[in-house]
Amino acid sequence: MKISSVYRTSIALLAFTTACVFTQLQALAADTGQKKLVVGFSQVGAESGWRTANTESIKSEAQKRGIDLRFSDAQQKQENQIKAIRSFIAQGVDVIAFSPVVETGFEPVLQEAKKAGIPVVLSDRAVKVSDPSLYVTFLGSDFVEEGRRAANALAKLTGGKANIAELVGTVGSAPAIDRKKGFEEVLAKYPDMKIIMSQSGDFTRAKGKEVMEAFLKAPNAKEINALFAHNDDMALGAIQAMEEAGIKPGQDIKIVSIDGVRGAFEAMKDGKLNVTVECNPLLGPQLFDLVEKVANKEEVPKRVVSQEGVYDEAQAAAELPKRQY
Ligand code: AHR
Repeated sequence: MKISSVYRTSIALLAFTTACVFTQLQALAADTGQKKLVVGFSQVGAESGWRTANTESIKSEAQKRGIDLRFSDAQQKQENQIKAIRSFIAQGVDVIAFSPVVETGFEPVLQEAKKAGIPVVLSDRAVKVSDPSLYVTFLGSDFVEEGRRAANALAKLTGGKANIAELVGTVGSAPAIDRKKGFEEVLAKYPDMKIIMSQSGDFTRAKGKEVMEAFLKAPNAKEINALFAHNDDMALGAIQAMEEAGIKPGQDIKIVSIDGVRGAFEAMKDGKLNVTVECNPLLGPQLFDLVEKVANKEEVPKRVVSQEGVYDEAQAAAELPKRQY
């Protein structure tokens, strides 16, 4: 063989090998692309400042990790949430995560997810199911403890003598049930503290205002000297109702609420709200740590509780610039 033909053959061989390697690399890249973790997340809605911060934390963390997040807003309706979960099952996502609007009624759809082999992670709120294997893990606050903290704060503010108006969260939701439970547990130790009015404000500012207006029109309205709101948004609505009725919030009526959103710190700084019990919405990083482990079939604890504090008016000005939500 002539030198020139050896040379030509070598060049052709080199080109062929390079092309093969390139194709293989392309295939590998495409393969890695396909392996992107697909997570279906069904959110409660956008009912409060807390929820907005929670959604933002989940979306930004998914984006940071390169997770394909299929996000669905249930607009505070359980039927929308069930539809969303069914659609995630049909799409064959790797993991389903959701924050249940209410505690009960999810068993059948969770059985469908189990049958399809899709693991479920609960975020923020729990469900009541007879078969605990229907979800892998639950990440969220200890709502009962938050209720206890709110009652202890109110006892301190009122010297253990209080006629309390209560703004309850969404009926049937885990935070509404558990916060009430924890609050009443502590109240049982104070014979002069009682709930004289209680109604749901559905965790929204508008409903909180509306229900407080009704409370203030009740025949025994003058007896109210304390308000326990299951979240800050309802407390902020109630503050508006009190001011419109010529009542000084935070003074004439002592107010304790839950969440720790920026608006609550502003109200505390202005002396209109007395205490907020923190409920951390920034669950994104912890949630996706769990989701990734679950997808990799690693062991995770059945329950993961988020760390939270209690803040009063004296701390409000210093804390406000540090608040992330
Ligand atoms: O589940 C958490 C609760 O839901 C928050 O306290 C409330 O603000 C939200 O709507």
